[in-house]
Amino acid sequence: MSEVSNGHRAHPRMGFRVGRVLAVGAAGVLIAAVMASTAFGASTLGGAAAQSGRYFGTAINSGKLGDSQYTTIAAREFNMATPENEMKPDATEPTRGTFTFSAGDTVYNWATSHGMKVRGHTLVWHSQIPSWMTSLSGSAATLAGMQEHINGVMAHYKGELPYWDVVNEAFNEDGTRRADVWQNNIGNSYIEQAFQTARAADGAAKLCYNDYNIENWSYAKTQGVYNMVKDFKSRGIPIDCVGFQTHMTGGSSLPASFQTTLSNFAALGVDVALTETDVTNADVTQYTNLTKACLAVSRCVGITVWGVRDSDSWRSGESPLLFDGSGNPKAAYTAVLNALNGSPVQTPTPSGQTPTPPATATPPQTASPTPPQTASPTPPSTITP
Ligand code: XIL
Repeated sequence: MSEVSNGHRAHPRMGFRVGRVLAVGAAGVLIAAVMASTAFGASTLGGAAAQSGRYFGTAINSGKLGDSQYTTIAAREFNMATPENEMKPDATEPTRGTFTFSAGDTVYNWATSHGMKVRGHTLVWHSQIPSWMTSLSGSAATLAGMQEHINGVMAHYKGELPYWDVVNEAFNEDGTRRADVWQNNIGNSYIEQAFQTARAADGAAKLCYNDYNIENWSYAKTQGVYNMVKDFKSRGIPIDCVGFQTHMTGGSSLPASFQTTLSNFAALGVDVALTETDVTNADVTQYTNLTKACLAVSRCVGITVWGVRDSDSWRSGESPLLFDGSGNPKAAYTAVLNALNGSPVQTPTPSGQTPTPPATATPPQTASPTPPQTASPTPPSTITP
């Protein structure tokens, strides 16, 4: 099954569905209200997010693509896909200099053939890296290994992925740098060197820093990442976006300051996104509030949940996703859809009364993110090994 490539790429672009389904917001709401409808707006997460120029994504696991319930839901609801494991360093360069893109391409080809974009995840990380990386020693040799990896993977997907998580989870909870092979051997400069290498490798991809537990504005880790991004911006280090994993699982819950955090990062001049969302027991309030927080920040470009059904989750024991194990939408699904559509579901207006448009009918802000690519009518071809 393993396929080896030396940087060959054969992925024609697929049009970005987001942005093509717009302009139904206020008018659609009004019509719905007049008709005393029980529902209005878009009927899928991706369609609803697209009304404000955003995307709604999911992690896609290549091992699930033979499950028709999984693929049916994923193709219907989402317009962005993040490979759950398939583009991580241990998957793409298990042996130094030998790049394997079979699993990554499987996700890429499936997603783009269903009108979805793909978010690259991830190039430099402490986890899920091959043993040759953890065995690197010496500053120059470690830097070379990191740069070769970035160059090899980004060359394969050059021009095809609107976002790349260049560096993932580089901070400790106290705001200091995580002592992984990159930090230990190269030192503080490795993150900016990773971003500079990535920019040179693919000038079209937006380059992101991605992390968990950075949702609370007053938290030391959030401040550590914020100060890094601020420093990068002030020195011209190429960084375009920050991903907030929003794993509200494993004992975490959504902090009240999350929208403030998103706004403050966005004010530095980066896109922000919710990149791996899951919430213990799919708490409706937290899902609603994290969706509203993104909608309220113009540079919040989209939300990605970390899996389709609860049974697909890396934390399935917490039932943290929007669909149950049988593929049924949960209460949190309806809450997120309604939030994206800008208003709660309407109750029928009693006859003889004048319907009143809902107070929050208009999406909070017009999103400014530019759809990463121009739509193309050309369907993607299957990847050629
Ligand atoms: C997880 C995957 O969901 C699991 O299948 C895998 O075993 C471990 O990694 N932060 C990240 C993601 O950036 O890549 C992780 O995904 C979850 C935490």
